[in-house]
Amino acid sequence: MTAQPEPFRFDPLSAEFAADPYAVYARMRSQAGLFPFPELDMLLVTRQRDVAAIVADPRLPRMPAGILDEAELARRQRQDNFHDMPSHARFVQFSMLNSDGAVHDRLRRQVYRMFTPALVAGQRAAIEAYVTKLVSGLADAGEVDFVADLAVHVPGHVIGHLLGVPEADSPLLRTWSENIVQYFDVDRSAARKGLAESTAAEFGAYLRELKADRLRAPKDDLVTRLVEAEQSGEMSEDEFISTAMLILMAGHGSTIDVLGSGLHALLRFPDQLARLKADPRLMPTAVQEMFRFESPLPFFDRYAAEDVEIGGIAYPRGTRFGLLYGAANRDPERFENPDDFDVGRTPNRHLAFGGGAHFCLGNHLARLDMDVIFTTLFRTFRSIELIEAPDYKRSLSVRGPRALRLRLEAA
Ligand code: HEM
Repeated sequence: MTAQPEPFRFDPLSAEFAADPYAVYARMRSQAGLFPFPELDMLLVTRQRDVAAIVADPRLPRMPAGILDEAELARRQRQDNFHDMPSHARFVQFSMLNSDGAVHDRLRRQVYRMFTPALVAGQRAAIEAYVTKLVSGLADAGEVDFVADLAVHVPGHVIGHLLGVPEADSPLLRTWSENIVQYFDVDRSAARKGLAESTAAEFGAYLRELKADRLRAPKDDLVTRLVEAEQSGEMSEDEFISTAMLILMAGHGSTIDVLGSGLHALLRFPDQLARLKADPRLMPTAVQEMFRFESPLPFFDRYAAEDVEIGGIAYPRGTRFGLLYGAANRDPERFENPDDFDVGRTPNRHLAFGGGAHFCLGNHLARLDMDVIFTTLFRTFRSIELIEAPDYKRSLSVRGPRALRLRLEAA
């Protein structure tokens, strides 16, 4: 008889989990069936084949509307502490990401053309110019925090530029994104709730003003395109705001986090850093591997719209599944030596950008940011040394180092 793994209490806010979530995910994966997580009323899915099957299955939408009855929806809203948040409900709880079917298709149609590989590649020169300026500012610094001194400045600038947000407002966008994203984690305290709600209201008012600006003077940017879509009846004003907000937020903290964890991985695997420096043509596969190795948005959820079978076990309609993309991306059944960081790994079809109808729209942009930053960094500095092992954030829904202290030596 094979021994059954010991059940254990899953604490995603613990120091142990922040230090090594992959050991915890491996324990969950080793048990039969899915891992119950009563705190969020869901079953956690850790195996790659189960996660991949769920995201591709239209019977498992993002949202519970139409699946659970009104009373149950209200109960869960309270349980998640998402009630009594009028601006948050209008602009964050509802969005392209948080919708399904025809509404989702209509909203996604308005913007997907702005994120094609060709259009994104057109941003390269502008990103290079900005990153070169930032990196040159560090050339004499000696010791830096890669996260605070470099990574935090790039994604907001790039996304803001694409949308058409004034450059001076980039720091504001970062703070707003953080205030809103933090409330999707496990800690739903009153203080965090208040901050998420007031930020959604403030951010909404800001976008309404930006809209008024573009109505007066249209520009060649994504906000103008969204305003045109709203004016022609393709989307409501609330949808305009929630879509712009989502695009400004979705890739902000996540790109900062994976820049930090990606560089940390290279420094922990010096043979891989040497290999990449010797052959910069490996940059695209190295970046792809960084997303697999430390997926910065490791957790999303889905609901069963009908009775379903996952991994041979039946689950009833209404079941909520917590998809652990970060766990799936370390599944040994799918990836050979999953805990090795390999800058040339191919194939490498990971789930860090999700899959199916909600597959990340910004993935090319995030890859481009990473490519430009690491290329510029390795060109500018002969040596990059880690001063101390970083602490990772305590979280279920985001993964990244709080800081990454480095000693740099210019080339
Ligand atoms: C580190 C970078 C990024 C990661 C890891 C990431 C990850 C993801 C994931 C996992 C999803 C799907 C969520 C689900 O399964 O329910 C998603 C959706 C989305 N992402 Fe990203 N993302 C990143 C960067 C970006 C950027 C830079 C943008 C925009 C500029 C962006 C825009 C979006 C949008 C709009 C969606 C919703 C798509 C839909 O619902 O149809 N992301 N992202």
